[in-house]
Amino acid sequence: MTDAIPQLPSYDEPALDAAFATLAEEVRAGSSSLTTVEAQENFRLHWLGRKQGRLKLISDAWLKSAPPEARKPLGMRFNQLKQQIEQVLEAPAAAKPAATAVQGIDITLPGAVRRPGIAHPLLETMHEVVRVFHQLGYSTNLGPQVESDFYNFEALNFPPNHPARDTQDTLQIAGQHTRPSRDRLLMRTHTSPVQIRTMIAQAPPIRIVIPGKVHRNDAADATHSPIFHQVEGLCVDTNITFSDLKGTLDHAMKALFGSAVKTRFFPSFFPFTEPSADVQISCIFCGGSGCRKCKHSGWIELLGCGMVDPAVFAAVTAERRKINPDDDAYNPEKMTGFAFGMGVERIAMMLHGVSDIGHFYSGDMRFLERFA
Ligand code: PHE
Repeated sequence: MTDAIPQLPSYDEPALDAAFATLAEEVRAGSSSLTTVEAQENFRLHWLGRKQGRLKLISDAWLKSAPPEARKPLGMRFNQLKQQIEQVLEAPAAAKPAATAVQGIDITLPGAVRRPGIAHPLLETMHEVVRVFHQLGYSTNLGPQVESDFYNFEALNFPPNHPARDTQDTLQIAGQHTRPSRDRLLMRTHTSPVQIRTMIAQAPPIRIVIPGKVHRNDAADATHSPIFHQVEGLCVDTNITFSDLKGTLDHAMKALFGSAVKTRFFPSFFPFTEPSADVQISCIFCGGSGCRKCKHSGWIELLGCGMVDPAVFAAVTAERRKINPDDDAYNPEKMTGFAFGMGVERIAMMLHGVSDIGHFYSGDMRFLERFA
């Protein structure tokens, strides 16, 4: 492409025709090599660039000294030339001949860096807890987040209208008031319904962990979120005792938080375990001497647990007998078991020194990159 502005010897029609024929030829010659998007863009700038474009420079030069009667024929010819250039540009670069792809790659450019992702810190913590129990021979079971009243409450010994349900208020799926109460759907409030699903499907012995997402009508604050995660555990066999429960959880807490950690068990209540306990661990921040994190008690409450209530075995047996009337696998007289449930967020906050649960859900890369 040449940049010099051509001379116009005179403004009569033959002279204009000759000059524009030369320019049209110049456009045609330039258009034959537009095989890449880049070349096409260069061509556009060369001819139509708003300040330094050739069309603009030439028309400025020629119009400046044009006699008034030559302005119209000049203008018409410039418009034609412009249309010719625009037609060239409308054809996609790829449709033009020659080897587009090869010319389009600039091997001297630095490559695009794609950094590998990491598991979200909550998932990572959940996996760590699950791994501890896998090493004890437990396997993993999952269940639905949209759960029926039967699995989430009734079979777990929360009768309809029982006050224990108040502590686990949740979203109900709309439009189900005509269904029997046990079939009504809700967002599960804990992972415990998967205990029931597992026992209905599978005879003892059972050793499972159940990681998952749960929902509650809880106002969000620094330590609460209406959607959070739990890891549940269930062990059912003959001759399972409370000391098996204590030994298992003591081991798990030491595996998660370090061998110096101590555990202690306090009486508590859950409808589906009897007796029930809350488990505390010695404060991992001060070692038990008392600090702000443990409210100067030296202990931090971490999970709920207990021995499987015979009423749960009875509910499971009733379901299993719908398929096999003679089923006696979960005879409450013979079977024993324990269960436990812990909040993943709480453990992750302790392990990583996170003070606001909201960080986990913010998607803020500055927070997430700390775990990379
Ligand atoms: N499901 C109970 C809760 O979410 C925790 C729990 C699980 C307690 C298993 C005892 C046994 O509060």
